Amino acid sequence: NALLPPNDRIPFPPPSSRQASSPSFDFGAVHLIPLSSTLSKSETELPQNLTFWSGLALIIGMSIGSGIFASPGPVFAYTGSVGGALGVWILAGLLAITGGLCYAELGAAIPDSGGEHPYLMRAYGSLPAFLFSWTGVTVTRPGSVAIITVICAEYLVRLLLYANPSAADNPPMWLVKLIALLCIGGLTIVNCISTRLGTAVQDVFTVLKLVSLLVIGTIGLVKLGEAGIGVNKNSGTNGESHNFHHSSIFEGGSRNAGDYALALYSALWAYDGWNNLNMVAGELKNPARDLPRAIVAGPAIVIVCYVLANIAYYAVLPEDVIVKSNTIAMDFGKRVFGHVGGIIIPLIVIGSTLGAANASIFSGARVAYVSARSSHVPLFLGKIHSQYRTPFNALITQSVLSCIFILFGSFTSLVNFYSMIAWLFYLLAVLALVVLRWKEPHLERPYRVWMVMPAIFMVVVIFLLTLSVKGAPTEAIGALVFMGSGVPLWWIVVRKEIGWEVLGQTLTRSIGAVFSVVLHILPSQIRGS
Ligand code: ARG
Repeated sequence: NALLPPNDRIPFPPPSSRQASSPSFDFGAVHLIPLSSTLSKSETELPQNLTFWSGLALIIGMSIGSGIFASPGPVFAYTGSVGGALGVWILAGLLAITGGLCYAELGAAIPDSGGEHPYLMRAYGSLPAFLFSWTGVTVTRPGSVAIITVICAEYLVRLLLYANPSAADNPPMWLVKLIALLCIGGLTIVNCISTRLGTAVQDVFTVLKLVSLLVIGTIGLVKLGEAGIGVNKNSGTNGESHNFHHSSIFEGGSRNAGDYALALYSALWAYDGWNNLNMVAGELKNPARDLPRAIVAGPAIVIVCYVLANIAYYAVLPEDVIVKSNTIAMDFGKRVFGHVGGIIIPLIVIGSTLGAANASIFSGARVAYVSARSSHVPLFLGKIHSQYRTPFNALITQSVLSCIFILFGSFTSLVNFYSMIAWLFYLLAVLALVVLRWKEPHLERPYRVWMVMPAIFMVVVIFLLTLSVKGAPTEAIGALVFMGSGVPLWWIVVRKEIGWEVLGQTLTRSIGAVFSVVLHILPSQIRGS
């Protein structure tokens, strides 16, 4: 692949998607519009710039975002013991690696950008792929960008209001939203201008947050060493090694399986992003070699950082502070560094969230871009900017939607909504791997995962989804209804081959007709009365 001349590296449309699926799994005909007939090749093709290191930075950059600075409190609260909490953090990381290994097989066999979309398309046909695009382009992708940038903005505002602690604890919402909008604007411009600039920003932020987490981890280990694990009883004065003084680190742990599932869910948000590289598989220089390597190395590094950071929090902070805290890193910083910590820690969180938001913007736009190739979203989203060679329209559309979510959205429900839809599609994608092994046994697979991995992944995810549906039924119904609303759209646009453009024109004309009727009737009624 690497030996091919650049212009021939991504056949367009990709050969993988050109083949029709076998009828048994086909939820609908695969209608790929040959974009080359309407847009020229250079207008629709992304260059293959990404190396192993930029891939690794992309995974780490999106995984480490807000989660590790917010979730340790809830995870500890659910599990009730240091051992249980650390176990959950490790388990969540292993689940990410398991999923990543499955995704590596998919990504190396079908090296196309757009994440789950090409796999769902190929394994099941167009309906699940359409629903993935529909929910991804309208809700999950822009929604997650919105969530991360708002967290970033909250910390920024806290920093700006540092001199006034009472205002900093309750920052004005309009200011938070305004700053979040500015962050999105800035990051979108960077990504519109150049893929290289986007990944360079990524690399800088990723190194910064890795270093910060390692520093936090080292401080924790030092404090732990000073106090001596299991020797010092909780003195309650200096706050060192607080939670390691029990006879067993599992003492006081919850005995309810549901608690551990909920804890896992919180920790998984912090690891979300492990599948990020598949979004840009088509832009990797050597996907067969680099995709599996980066997809295992990324979460493995993240697990080490997260476990170290958690040990540091548990070593320095007393249990009651951890359990109540949503801004655990802030508490940690203040306790270790005093006032300076109150400045340094928000700076770290701001850098971390900006990096994650950047990664999310970068990869999310590619979901829309790839979906446009199969006419699953309006064609203009698949256009590459002639000068900058970036998926310009997709980036702009995504940022507009993110801004709408910031202005009108409720963030807690967005997070729940996001997780349910995201994990449902992770499950479907891993199932697609199994389906494709059976359906297309001769497909060239540069990397083959051990089949125990998808089995473990699917069992755990089904367990997680079932529990979360029980725990948050309203969001679950909402997510189902929202996804279901994509079915009639699919039927019109794909099945009936009406297409987005015609649908758009028809809608505009109908709305125009309704308006002219209303305008015509209204005055006559007023005249008559
Ligand atoms: N793991 C990230 C965090 O801790 C969240 C990633 C959100 N996922 C996404 N596809 N944007 O903040």
